Amino acid sequence: MKIISIANFKGGVGKTTTAINLAAGLKNRGKKVLLVDVDPQANLTQSVGLTGEVDNAIYSVLHKEAMGEKTDLTDARVRASGLDLIPASLDLASAELELASVYGREHILSQLLAPLKGYDFVLIDCPPSMGMLTINALVASDYVLIPLQAEFLPLKGARSFLKHMDLIRKLNKKIQLLGFVLTKYDDRKKMNRQIKREIESEFSRDKVFRTTIRINIALANAQENGTDIFTYEATSNGALDYTDLTTEFLARMNPIIKRR
Ligand SMILES: Nc1ncnc2c1ncn2[C@@H]1O[C@H](COP(=O)(O)OP(=O)(O)OP(=O)(O)O)[C@@H](O)[C@H]1O
Ligand SMILES: [Mg+2]
Repeated sequence: MKIISIANFKGGVGKTTTAINLAAGLKNRGKKVLLVDVDPQANLTQSVGLTGEVDNAIYSVLHKEAMGEKTDLTDARVRASGLDLIPASLDLASAELELASVYGREHILSQLLAPLKGYDFVLIDCPPSMGMLTINALVASDYVLIPLQAEFLPLKGARSFLKHMDLIRKLNKKIQLLGFVLTKYDDRKKMNRQIKREIESEFSRDKVFRTTIRINIALANAQENGTDIFTYEATSNGALDYTDLTTEFLARMNPIIKRR
């Protein structure tokens, strides 16, 4: 089982869209995937058709752990749109504060995920900030995948994220950068092409996914309709791009899995 956080401090870059559609793409290839929503906005939870008002969400599990009670992450697990999900609820925002005073607070999610069995991949959708929830996700992860928009100083953001990763490594030595994924990409825009080149020259090429995710309104519509892009519109550019991303993701992961 490999745990992958999908993270970027910047909002609206396609973290949640990548989480649901990569999960659906992997499921379509016969992989067992668990999605974990650690964003108090609960967008991923809503993206699979649930409201952000689920009773037994990740907040209750984290809350009990913070109170020193023994809990099981699977108590909160639901199945929606054919995907396994640990949902978030809007009260998750309180967890940031509650966890702040708990001993070992950075490792709570990691401990909750450790006994899980039967999944090939766990994908964690992070909020756009470096609070206790994102730290918990990164400390629990083997890899981080960073969606990036090829606009508005993404390099600065990427550099700053990698600096934070150095700090995370003190808590979790195994974490590695799986790669940057350019999202909302438009090859016709000079700025997009230029930033893609800049990112490829700043970071080694194997750290930038060759697949780019084009701007495609069907992706936003699928999310609004509470389902993944393959179910919503299998022939859309969004579905094609996330199929390619899934293929590239598996190509990157397979040698790693085989080596162990
Ligand atoms: N490739 C795309 N083409 C068009 N719209 C997209 C694309 N990717 C994402 N969107 C839309 O852009 C908005 C932001 O995307 P998303 O929610 O995935 O970003 P996020 O990084 O998770 O945001 P946040 O930081 O708020 O959690 C959503 O409405 C989503 O449907
Ligand atoms: Mg999101």
